[in-house]
Amino acid sequence: MSEQQQQLKRLVAAAALEYLRDGMILGIGTGSTVNAMLDQLVPWVPRLKGAVSSSDASTSRLRALGVPVLDLNEVDDLDVYIDGADETTHQLQLIKGGGAALTREKIIAAAATTFVCIADESKLVVQLGRFPLPVEVIPMARQLVARQLTEMGGRPVFRAGVTTDNGNHILDVHDLVIKDPVAIESDINQLTGVVTVGLFARRPADVLLLGTAAGVRRIDRVT
Ligand code: 5RP
Repeated sequence: MSEQQQQLKRLVAAAALEYLRDGMILGIGTGSTVNAMLDQLVPWVPRLKGAVSSSDASTSRLRALGVPVLDLNEVDDLDVYIDGADETTHQLQLIKGGGAALTREKIIAAAATTFVCIADESKLVVQLGRFPLPVEVIPMARQLVARQLTEMGGRPVFRAGVTTDNGNHILDVHDLVIKDPVAIESDINQLTGVVTVGLFARRPADVLLLGTAAGVRRIDRVT
């Protein structure tokens, strides 16, 4: 990652802190942009009630900071979820899962009132799919699901050496034409053996904070 890209991540990470409130339980995603936010979280640590984490990696970082990490099952209201993305459209539909945390990320996004996506401007696209679409699969179903994804026009590639925090495998689907993200999300989720597809179209982000050379650009989802 270039120093410029890292700088943009720090910029949007700082802007995301504006969404924090005293006594809040915060949903936390996974990845380098989220890590840039966690690096700036220290002043907020005594003010937060806790966090719900989307990965073992983020949990370790939160614990190192002294933030109580809570089980989502113990949390009634999750006001804000902050996470990065691998790609985003102007409609705030996303591809996520480059860090293999897509299933827990999708669960927390579903539970949160407001999903704030933080990304540098390289992630903004007109149509999703240049970034290979991650699909988390039950290990014994990997080949079965791969054949079906091929029939759908994709080129699934097994992410060798990666086991998700849930003990599953990842297929990265190249060359898929994602014209209708909501339909493709549903179709892939229906395949037996799929745990989650990294398309966040049915539940997109609510706010996108985009790091650009000219500063932070905010895009609100039109409902
Ligand atoms: C992890 C994710 C990340 O949000 C996504 O990969 C973006 O990561 P980064 O902030 O490092 O660019 O979905 O599963």
